[in-house]
Amino acid sequence: MQTNNTPYQRQIFVCTNNANGEKASCGDHKGEEVFRKLREIAKERKLHPNIRVAQARCLGQCAKGVNIMVYPENTWHSDVRLEDVPQLAEKYIK
Ligand code: FES
Repeated sequence: MQTNNTPYQRQIFVCTNNANGEKASCGDHKGEEVFRKLREIAKERKLHPNIRVAQARCLGQCAKGVNIMVYPENTWHSDVRLEDVPQLAEKYIK
């Protein structure tokens, strides 16, 4: 095993899990689209992968989706909607 410092300035984990209506999930509120848009912005701003937008396959707070967790800020956003993407991008993708 090797142990090193995190290779990214920031990681933004977006839950893209979709239970297809079998239970509440981030897929009910376009988690995949939120992920794709944030990733696209990071690439457009040439900050990817130093600021890495990553998919998570369930963060355990499914009824509060879309869920996003951000490190190193150690911040959690829930009930995120597509229209919140610009605000998140201004806060974290800079
Ligand atoms: S489906 Fe997103 S937290 Fe579980």
